[in-house]
Amino acid sequence: MQSTCFSSIFLSSLLICLFTSINLQTSFCVEDLWYSNCSQTFKCGSIENVSYPFWGVNRADYCGQPGFKLDCQDDVPKIMMLQNTFRVLGINPEQQILKVARDDYWKDICPAEFINTTIDSTHFSYVSSGLQNLTIYYDCYLGSNTYYLPPSLNCIINTTTINVLYATITSSYDPFLGECISNVQIPINETAAQTLYENPMMVNDTLKAGFDLQWKIGGDQCNRCLNSGGVCGYNRTTTQFTCFCQDQPWSSTCPPRPGLSLFFLATLHSFLVLVSTL
Ligand SMILES: *[C@@H]1O[C@H](CO)[C@@H](O)[C@H](O)[C@H]1NC(C)=O
Ligand SMILES: *[C@@H]1O[C@H](CO)[C@@H](O)[C@H](O)[C@H]1NC(C)=O
Ligand SMILES: *[C@@H]1O[C@H](CO)[C@@H](O)[C@H](O)[C@H]1NC(C)=O
Ligand SMILES: *[C@@H]1O[C@H](CO)[C@@H](O)[C@H](O)[C@H]1NC(C)=O
Ligand SMILES: *[C@@H]1O[C@H](CO)[C@@H](O)[C@H](O)[C@H]1NC(C)=O
Ligand SMILES: *[C@@H]1O[C@H](CO)[C@@H](O)[C@H](O)[C@H]1NC(C)=O
Ligand SMILES: *[C@@H]1O[C@H](CO)[C@@H](O)[C@H](O)[C@H]1NC(C)=O
Ligand SMILES: *[C@@H]1O[C@H](CO)[C@@H](O)[C@H](O)[C@H]1NC(C)=O
Repeated sequence: MQSTCFSSIFLSSLLICLFTSINLQTSFCVEDLWYSNCSQTFKCGSIENVSYPFWGVNRADYCGQPGFKLDCQDDVPKIMMLQNTFRVLGINPEQQILKVARDDYWKDICPAEFINTTIDSTHFSYVSSGLQNLTIYYDCYLGSNTYYLPPSLNCIINTTTINVLYATITSSYDPFLGECISNVQIPINETAAQTLYENPMMVNDTLKAGFDLQWKIGGDQCNRCLNSGGVCGYNRTTTQFTCFCQDQPWSSTCPPRPGLSLFFLATLHSFLVLVSTL
């Protein structure tokens, strides 16, 4: 009687054990994809260890938020915002700052098309201080107004040579605005603006130094998920933050693993039963 009871407990424990491990096995196989994909960080050129809210290349779209897609072209990380393509010069996840430079102004200030700087203001804003606009004036009629010229050079655009003048707001050459075919505004940092004012030929380098953008997605939600052992993601269907855990996606953090503790309890139980029968 006694031994029959023990063996039935032993058998049921074994069954529980088997059942739980099968359960765990299947759930790992299904969910692993999101978790493992988003565990990969983005690397392109000198930019590495990039994760949520960014995605792109080796990171699927559910690993980040819309507006944070990164491309990698010839080892140059890039981000698109409306009509502009920006080169990514740096990413500071602690301060949530993205340093970018206009891709079409990387070589020189003679782009094929005149396009102002527009950022995706839903997800980014200009850093609150330290920025200034550089205004580049194209194809200006100088007339007799040559007594106080801003720095200028020539560009060959579409086989036509035109003059180009540029100024930061502090030096205010705004009278030229009406005398030029077009003008383009590009943010530069104040230090760079001062350097440019003192050394006007540095304009190409000034634009290569880039400017900072602040991203607006809070980091707290993601940190809580990471601390619980998950990786951060985003569900495009529900437009909600998602925490991908090893077992399944959760809305904010990974819970302690009940499946696993049940498995251990069952194993421990059958071990104790086994010992007591001997
Ligand atoms: C990226 O992470 C690795 C491993 O944690 C570290 O060795 C490396 O210095 C990091 N790179 C940067 C640019 O932070
Ligand atoms: C992650 O998913 C993306 C998009 O489906 C895919 O291109 C990429 O190869 C995956 N990366 C890994 C490491 O599984
Ligand atoms: C900047 O680019 C322009 C246009 O190509 C060129 O004329 C100028 O020499 C460059 N300046 C420097 C300092 O390289
Ligand atoms: C140069 O030509 C291209 C293609 O025809 C055109 O889209 C562009 O606006 C032109 N650029 C300028 C500055 O006129
Ligand atoms: C860029 O913005 C300035 C200021 O708003 C404007 O005067 C100029 O026409 C714009 N240039 C282009 C190419 O749209
Ligand atoms: C630069 O100009 C853009 C419009 O072209 C404007 O939105 C932005 O606030 C300006 N930045 C500064 C620092 O004046
Ligand atoms: C502005 O640019 C200069 C020169 O590139 C750099 O040393 C400085 O750190 C920048 N300042 C800010 C606030 O980004
Ligand atoms: C997104 O949410 C939907 C609806 O709740 C769900 O069916 C889907 O599996 C979720 N996708 C991810 C990647 O979490």
